[in-house]
Amino acid sequence: MLHILAISGSLRAASTNSALLAALARNAPQSCRLTIYDGVGRLPIFNPDEEDERTPPEARRLIEAVSEADGVIVSSPEYAHGVPGGLKNALDWLVSRDAAVGKPAMLVHASHRSLFARAALAEIMRTMSFDLYADTELEIALLGKKPEEFDAILQLQENVAKMRAAVSVFVGFVNGR
Ligand SMILES: Cc1cc2nc3c(=O)[nH]c(=O)nc-3n(C[C@H](O)[C@H](O)[C@H](O)COP(=O)(O)O)c2cc1C
Repeated sequence: MLHILAISGSLRAASTNSALLAALARNAPQSCRLTIYDGVGRLPIFNPDEEDERTPPEARRLIEAVSEADGVIVSSPEYAHGVPGGLKNALDWLVSRDAAVGKPAMLVHASHRSLFARAALAEIMRTMSFDLYADTELEIALLGKKPEEFDAILQLQENVAKMRAAVSVFVGFVNGR
């Protein structure tokens, strides 16, 4: 059974990115278990002086979760044409470790915009040596939707099929390496 870790770049309670990842978890194929890392908002600001034996507990938890996962899926908003600080901070805690090196990863999108953040995230994650799956760009446009609206969109048969297909393709990518 493959284990995939999903990380949302949004801390909003009614986040469309987090909702997309939760829906991916519900619709994951039986061959994989998808869990959500929920500690982005608890991580201290990255400081290279706080590494090794001084690594803070939440950063240690993130590093272990990424290390133990067979693959990582990220969904993130864009703020001012950039990657949200919290998500970049989480990634920074992984830079000087082995956790990200060669780790299969895929980006999915809850907004049809966010093109700068998509490109920046891909660049950052490739630079960190994530093995970023380039082809699948699952995009379900939830921008500006309220929870009752995006819940309904995520339950549409065509979107459930898209989500299943995207996770299956990613599982194939992980298994085929
Ligand atoms: C402070 C702020 C800045 C934003 N800047 C951008 C932007 O530059 N480009 C963009 O496409 N969307 C921008 N947005 C919209 C968010 O990316 C969008 O609402 C996103 O889908 C929210 O994700 P969430 O529902 O997971 O929180 C911004 C939103 C906020 C709150």
